[in-house]
Amino acid sequence: MREADPPPAPGARRRAAARIAVLVLCGSVAVAALLRATQMEPHPTVTLTAEERAWIASHGPIRLGADPAYPPIEWIDARGVHRGLVADLLTLVRRRLGVPIEIVREGSWKEVLEKARSGEIDGVAAIQPTPERSEYLAWSIPIVDLLDVVIVRHDEPGSPTLGDLSGRRVAMTSGSALVDEVRRANPDVELVLLADEVSALRAVSFGQAEAALVNLAVASYVVEAAGITNLRVASDYGRGLPLSIGTRRDRPLATSIVAKGLAAVSLAEREEIRQRWVRLDVSGVQTTRRALLALALCLIAITAVAAVALGWNATLRRRVAAATAGLEAELAERRRAEEALLRAQRLESLAILAGGIAHDFNNLLTGILGNVSLVRRDRPGPEEEDELLREAERATRRAVSLTRQLLTFAKGGAPDTLVVDLAPLVEEAARVATRGRTVGYRVVAEPGLWPAAVDPGQLGQVVQNLVINAVEAMPTGGVVEVALDNVRAGAGARVTPGPCVRLRVSDEGPGIPADVLPHVFDPFVSTKERGSGLGLAVTHSVVTRHGGAIDVRSRPGEGTTFEVVLPARPGASTVTPPRSEPARRRSGRVLVMDDEESVRRVAQRVLGSLGCEVAVAADGLEAVALWHAAREGGRPFDVVVVDLTVPGGTGGMDVLRRLREIDPQAKVVVSSGYSEPEPGALREFSATLPKPYSAEEAIAVVGPFLPPAP
Ligand SMILES: Nc1ncnc2c1ncn2[C@@H]1O[C@H](COP(=O)(O)OP(=O)(O)OP(=O)(O)O)[C@@H](O)[C@H]1O
Ligand SMILES: [Mg+2]
Repeated sequence: MREADPPPAPGARRRAAARIAVLVLCGSVAVAALLRATQMEPHPTVTLTAEERAWIASHGPIRLGADPAYPPIEWIDARGVHRGLVADLLTLVRRRLGVPIEIVREGSWKEVLEKARSGEIDGVAAIQPTPERSEYLAWSIPIVDLLDVVIVRHDEPGSPTLGDLSGRRVAMTSGSALVDEVRRANPDVELVLLADEVSALRAVSFGQAEAALVNLAVASYVVEAAGITNLRVASDYGRGLPLSIGTRRDRPLATSIVAKGLAAVSLAEREEIRQRWVRLDVSGVQTTRRALLALALCLIAITAVAAVALGWNATLRRRVAAATAGLEAELAERRRAEEALLRAQRLESLAILAGGIAHDFNNLLTGILGNVSLVRRDRPGPEEEDELLREAERATRRAVSLTRQLLTFAKGGAPDTLVVDLAPLVEEAARVATRGRTVGYRVVAEPGLWPAAVDPGQLGQVVQNLVINAVEAMPTGGVVEVALDNVRAGAGARVTPGPCVRLRVSDEGPGIPADVLPHVFDPFVSTKERGSGLGLAVTHSVVTRHGGAIDVRSRPGEGTTFEVVLPARPGASTVTPPRSEPARRRSGRVLVMDDEESVRRVAQRVLGSLGCEVAVAADGLEAVALWHAAREGGRPFDVVVVDLTVPGGTGGMDVLRRLREIDPQAKVVVSSGYSEPEPGALREFSATLPKPYSAEEAIAVVGPFLPPAP
């Protein structure tokens, strides 16, 4: 196919020839350097001076600190063994020197740095030189030199560089030498400093930061090991600062011994170790176009060198074509492998999720089934029966709250917003969350609090989750403080700059331990015996979907404060979300359509208890027929309650349309166990009654459509 291409124009041909010549030159220089390095570099036997030998004899092993969690560069494994690229390099250095170099295995990276600063150890095995560190450390030749990249979620548009991330959150490790540089060059970027690379990448994966600045080799390794599947490389930050061995300035003999040991390891050996650990294999991370371009350029250069050796002729073209085809096939193969891995990882996460939910549900169902069957079998006295049924009801309520949480996670949980006054909504949620507990609550709202556009149901759930956590943190009693005030978000805040409402929920509990704190918003993280660990994950997802931000401050022994900031609408007119009414006796007629017989029976009993007449239908067509018949017979239904989806039958949406064609004022309430198909889709209905519902909830929603009893 290539041979059939029209010949290029003379200018283009000259440019192409010049480009190939440059590549060939680069390739030849690189190959020659590599050959020289492999063939000519000897392995010198290290001779230490008398002074150096005496120092080692009196001082003992050279003790270097290591980063406990920086794979594949170096880490301390579960058995306490120093592993990774640096470990392999040090093994060679030790062998060549014949001098013991010991790795200090305790402590976090921060503590290692502290030990090096205080002189407790002789130095650090692999560390980025900075001016501040140069005050007490002397540097070896660079031992690792790696690319730093910006990582974002798959759904982040474009390929943002750090400069594009003004006002957004970028996660980094707190010990990174780049922190100061990034702060200086990008003052508008909001840095989220975390303990290690895994936490930084997790923060992006779970939406607590928009991007992470990490080392590519470390990121690809961590992403694979931690099974994170929703990240990609957005852009290169440039070369990361190279890592060197740093030894204490006040121990110059340690510095000279280490330098001699390193000089005794050949370039080829170092390259071999590097390739053993740092593959540019970024499974789970999509490579940037630039990286692919670089890869393609390298391959072309190598192909070109081979072609020169064989002669500058037509063969060259065929070989380039073949190499390109080979490269394309290889890339396609790699893409297939990456996709297969992603699929497998997704299925695995799904299996874990399904397993967790099934486990929780089985426990709750056992609570329901066990108690109900005891009532049926033993026919206990009224008091015990009441207790058993109460227990069954409690388990059911927990199952209801679990499904609600899960539905908020689902796509359909996107907010359906109304502009409301937050104070009454927050007051009601706090009241519900503290009902029957030994803990009190206090809501303090700034006078003239700005309204905000929120989904009242979802925001109520946010407040309930936060207040319930606060209540659970104070088992012996106390007060939950809920404060609402107006604030203005400035540039660099995590919400759109402008007027905001701030909600703070504080408790007097024991606080959150430092090792739990960075993970509280992760799903399934719970320290409670009966916690599902979904409360804060859902809260975080709701708040960010509202364009807001959530943060937590907690110190062991000093209580906890969660702070939510939501965009406000000063001056906008508000609506009042419907409030539940106390049950009153009603008359009139209700039609209930549901394909599930047990639901029909419950609805019939519950609504019948109000004093009204209840008819039932098993699907939409039957309901429409009954409705017509009743209307024609002069005894129309006052309200119809329909199930949204009827498998294989006519669902609630169709019933609504058919009834409204005849009577545009027809009162139709929708009842569904699913989340809304899309926000606002259910607005045409007169009201919604989410399943499952209690007697009180059914009466509160349907009651107002029925005439009061005479
Ligand atoms: N106010 C608080 N005080 C102390 N620890 C808290 C507080 N809020 C949250 N936590 C910690 O964060 C963890 C996660 O909270 P989250 O609400 O997500 O789950 P949970 O309360 O354990 O379970 P669930 O809310 O799903 O029933 C808790 O288990 C607890 O360790
Ligand atoms: Mg909770």
